Amino acid sequence: MTDAEALNRRLVDELTAAGALPGQWRAAFLTAPRHVFVPGVIWDDADGSVLSPRRRDEDPAAWLTTVYTNEAIVTQVDDGTAQDTGTGRRITSSISKPSIVATMLGHLHVEYGMRVLEIGAGTGWNAALLAHMVGDENVTTIEVDRDLAERARRTLAEVGVSALVVTGDGADGYAPGAPYDRVVATASVHAVPYQWVAQTRPGGVILTPWGNAYDNGALARLTVDGHGAAYGPFVDNTVAFMWLCAQRAPRPAAPVDLAGATESATALHPDAVAFDDYDATFAVGLRVPDVTTKFEDADDGSDDFAFWAFSGPSWARVEVTDGAVTHRVRQQGPRSLWTEIEAAYQWWGETGRPPTGRFGLAVTPDRQYVYLDSPDSPVA
Ligand SMILES: C[S@@+](CC[C@H](N)C(=O)[O-])C[C@H]1O[C@@H](n2cnc3c(N)ncnc32)[C@H](O)[C@@H]1O
Repeated sequence: MTDAEALNRRLVDELTAAGALPGQWRAAFLTAPRHVFVPGVIWDDADGSVLSPRRRDEDPAAWLTTVYTNEAIVTQVDDGTAQDTGTGRRITSSISKPSIVATMLGHLHVEYGMRVLEIGAGTGWNAALLAHMVGDENVTTIEVDRDLAERARRTLAEVGVSALVVTGDGADGYAPGAPYDRVVATASVHAVPYQWVAQTRPGGVILTPWGNAYDNGALARLTVDGHGAAYGPFVDNTVAFMWLCAQRAPRPAAPVDLAGATESATALHPDAVAFDDYDATFAVGLRVPDVTTKFEDADDGSDDFAFWAFSGPSWARVEVTDGAVTHRVRQQGPRSLWTEIEAAYQWWGETGRPPTGRFGLAVTPDRQYVYLDSPDSPVA
């Protein structure tokens, strides 16, 4: 057994033991080893803001260990414009975390012969796993980046997988291969492209990471009905994918001038609305449209921090002193963002703190909305 085979087997065993890898996917993971798909240059974000390249040639053993660790690996930055001798700013492609890949494949409930459309081919690894389960000729995967698509096509051919790799915008789906039994996106959306619904057969499933400016970690599993609509629950809220390129969110920026803001105090700790509890963060995000957030550590080395919320010209800042019971709030602009966040958190509490799994997404030809328990109860 090669080092790669041994490491792959160990990872597969770990995923199985953790309950992340459904038994029927085990053979696919062993047959389509991850190292074949990961490029020779990967990117580390050591300090959280700048991405630096790491080459397999420099330390093949370390590269292989990274490949067989249960983590996402950045495989492209800045849409491929960054030199692999320099640094990058924005992650534009990655090979997803193996436990998340396994969880998503489990939610797909595929059988041999089903036709599957994947959005976001990336390295081609997920397409190879799918091909193992449903048959090569039944997998179509779309990648918007020409170079990535070409590389995925080449890699799949090298390992003898003849899945179709289409270069194009996954938001359009791929009509020539429709209807599909499954559409699975490996990029996140806040609006499900309607073509995905139109190209899925009634009873078929759309599985997609979903989020908004506030929170991007949910996974929606929609079933298409016979009337051109799709409904279904959020089945996870820890997946955190990059956005479908046309739906990329703006990066939050701190305003420089705090003068003139409205001041108040709050007893609500920002961690409660955006950090401690995935269910709370998800629910609050539903009720505060187009709000991005940021935590900013104090520069004196203490545990104090500021929580920021931004939306257009509006911003809010909550200053947290470690151990304090109330926190100073400053807000400015047409929207009082902290007040909105407090109200959203209160709504979630008054509704009985429903977990993410009680919410669902409806996608109809004319509108999309999030509901609680039933499509008859829209909440956002
Ligand atoms: C997390 S990566 C996908 C990982 C991939 N499934 C794999 O197995 O390696 C997300 C990919 O989605 C692609 N993407 C983003 N927007 C897209 C779009 N509109 N259409 C098709 N692909 C898109 C990105 O270029 C990126 O390669």
